[in-house]
Amino acid sequence: TEGALWGARFAGGPSPELAALSKSTHFDWQLAEYDIAGSRAHALALASAGYLDEAELASMLGALDALEQAVRDGRFLPLESDEDVHAALERGLIEIAGGDLGGKLRAGRSRNDQIATLIRLLLRDHSARVSRLLIDLIDALAAQAAAHPAVIMPGRTHLQHAQPVLLAHHLLAHCWPFVRGLERLADWNVRADASPYGSGALAGNTLGLDAALVARELGFGRVVENSIDGTASRDLVAEFAFVLAQIGIDLSRLAEEIILWNTREFGFVTLDDGYSTGSSIMPQKKNPDIAELARGKAGRLIGNLAGLLATLKGLPLAYNRDLQEDKEPVFDSLSTLEVLLPAFTGMVATMRFHPERMAELAPQGFSLATDVAEWLVKQHVPFRDAHEITGSMVMFCEDRGIELHEIDDADLATISPHLTPKVRSVLTIEGSVNSRDGIGGTAPVRVAEQLAALTERIRVL
Ligand code: ARG
Repeated sequence: TEGALWGARFAGGPSPELAALSKSTHFDWQLAEYDIAGSRAHALALASAGYLDEAELASMLGALDALEQAVRDGRFLPLESDEDVHAALERGLIEIAGGDLGGKLRAGRSRNDQIATLIRLLLRDHSARVSRLLIDLIDALAAQAAAHPAVIMPGRTHLQHAQPVLLAHHLLAHCWPFVRGLERLADWNVRADASPYGSGALAGNTLGLDAALVARELGFGRVVENSIDGTASRDLVAEFAFVLAQIGIDLSRLAEEIILWNTREFGFVTLDDGYSTGSSIMPQKKNPDIAELARGKAGRLIGNLAGLLATLKGLPLAYNRDLQEDKEPVFDSLSTLEVLLPAFTGMVATMRFHPERMAELAPQGFSLATDVAEWLVKQHVPFRDAHEITGSMVMFCEDRGIELHEIDDADLATISPHLTPKVRSVLTIEGSVNSRDGIGGTAPVRVAEQLAALTERIRVL
C-alpha cells in the first residue's frame, strides 16, 4: 500500500486488476492545477483554525508553489502506482515538504469534497473559453448578415420553397440559438458559484474549518448549503454537458444547410479553399468537411450527455465511485467543441454567397402565393376564399409550367374577378419581404434593427 491514501486497515495492497480499473490519472490529471489551488485554500483554513502554525503555513504554501511549478513544466507526473490526481499530488507534496508537514494537509477534507469542487472550477474556466469562441462565431455570422443587407433567398419549411426571406434574416436566425447558448453558460455559472469544499466525505468536518474562506479563495461566491448534496450531486456537470450538446446541435443544423448550399444544385455558397478539403482520387472535388465534422460531432456531444445522465440515474446518496465517470464525457465534449468552433467560425467568415442564384430561386415554387392571398384579404376577400383563389392560380400555373407573375391579365380575371392587375404589386420578392414588417419579420428595416439588437445583447453578456 506504499503511496496509497489508505493502508493500515488493509492486509495488502490493491490487486493489479483493481488498480488498473480504479485508475483515473489519465483523465483527471488535467485537474492538477485546480487540486493545488484547493490545497492552498485548505491550508489557509487549517491555519486559521489553528492546525498549522505560521511557519508551517509558509512552508506548506512554498511546497505547494514548488509542486505547481513542477507540474507545469512536466517534471512532476503521476506514477503507475498513483490512483488519481489527488493521490499523486499528495505524494508530490510529501516529496517536497516531508511527511510530517505534508501529511497534515489531508485533515478535514476528503477526495469527495475535493473532486466535487475541482470539477466546478475546471468547468467554470472552460465556460469562459467556450463563451469567447461562441462570440467569435456569432460575430462571423452577424458580419455576413451585415455584408448582405438586401440579398433575398428562398425561405423554406419542410425543405420546400415557402416564402422569400432576407439572407441576413436567415443568418441571424442561426445566431440567436448561439446567443441563448451564451446565456445558458452564464445562468449555469450562477448555479455553479457554490463551493463543496468543507463537506468532507459527506457529513461535513469536525475541525471547525472555515468553508467560506476556502470558497472565497477559490473564487466562489458561496458555500453549498448541504454537504451531502455538495459531494453527491453532478447535475451541474450534466447541465453543462447539455449546454455543450445543444451548441453542437445548433452547429449541426447550420452545417447541414451549408452542405446543401454548397452543392451544385443549390449553388448558394462557395467555401474558401483554406476551409475545404479535396479528394484523394477525384481531382475535381472540394468538400465541406468542416460542416460534415460539425454534424458528426454533434452526435458525439449528445452521446456524452446521454452517457452521463445514465451514470447518474439511480445513484443513492451520498458519494459513489460511479461519479468518477462524470469526467471523461464532459472533458471530451469540451475538447471537441474547443477544436470545432474555431474551424467552423473560419468557414463561416470566409464563405462567399451567390446572391444572383438565391434571387433567381426565391420566387420559384410559387413562394409568393401567401402574398397574393394576403393581398386579397386587404381587398376584403375572406381569407378562406383568398386561399382558394390563390390555390387555383397555383394549379393554373402548374398545368402550364409557368410562375404566378407570368399569368396574363385576362387569365387572372377568369380565375377570379378579385384578381385585378394591381395584384402584380405583390408578385415580386422585394415587395414580399418589404411587406413583412412586423416585429421579428423579414423586412429589411426590421432585420437591420434585429442586427443592432443582437450586437447589443452580445455586448452586455
Ligand atoms: N477519483 C474520484 C472521482 O473522480 C475521487 C475520489 C473519491 N474516491 C473515493 N474512493 N471516495 O470521483
